[in-house]
Amino acid sequence: MTAFLLRPAVGEDARFLADMLVEAANWSPGSHRPRLQVLADPALSPYVSGWMRPADAGIVAESPAGHPIGACWFRLFDSAKPGAGFVAGGVPELTLGVGRQWRAQGVGRELLRGVSAMAGAAGHARLSLSVDHGNFAHRLYVSEGFVVVSSTDHSDTMVKILR
Ligand SMILES: CC(C)(COP(=O)(O)OP(=O)(O)OC[C@H]1O[C@@H](n2cnc3c(N)ncnc32)[C@H](O)[C@@H]1OP(=O)(O)O)[C@@H](O)C(=O)NCCC(=O)NCCS
Repeated sequence: MTAFLLRPAVGEDARFLADMLVEAANWSPGSHRPRLQVLADPALSPYVSGWMRPADAGIVAESPAGHPIGACWFRLFDSAKPGAGFVAGGVPELTLGVGRQWRAQGVGRELLRGVSAMAGAAGHARLSLSVDHGNFAHRLYVSEGFVVVSSTDHSDTMVKILR
């Protein structure tokens, strides 16, 4: 496994988290949505806009040289403006992305484990997410204890019980 370090996300990570949101939006090999288009999408921009709010938290993975290579973070959404993986008020929704050249080396799983522990330590009982059908990340989420609680034509909402 490649060496990498994990550290808590901070406000200055906003741009990198946006980079990882763009990666998540372009998870499909044939998808190349431009950064500006993703960040202007009202369904996607709420995952990073205004980072970092008081209830926001996350983890950034860094290369041995200190460059950010992946991130996983969670934030709370209001039922009036829910995220795609919204299940209830007070249940944070996570976003996960790893830079292309760093994938399949264990970074995503370690970020997911770290953020699950972080959310539990912050007092959250559940953590949710949305994953498109066909994204292999679904298998990663299942293997880390997430279960499908609802589905649409194109995505599943998954939840992990933290405590
Ligand atoms: C999904 C993603 C975050 C996973 O991170 P990663 O660092 O590549 O994943 P890991 O190396 O920790 O692997 C975790 C599991 O993912 C699966 N996986 C990883 N790479 C895979 C590949 N190329 N094909 C199929 N499954 C793969 C495996 O099940 C793996 O578990 P294993 O190593 O025990 O077999 C990363 O690939 C990514 O950023 N993808 C684009 C953005 C995205 O889809 N985000 C999630 C949106 S819901």
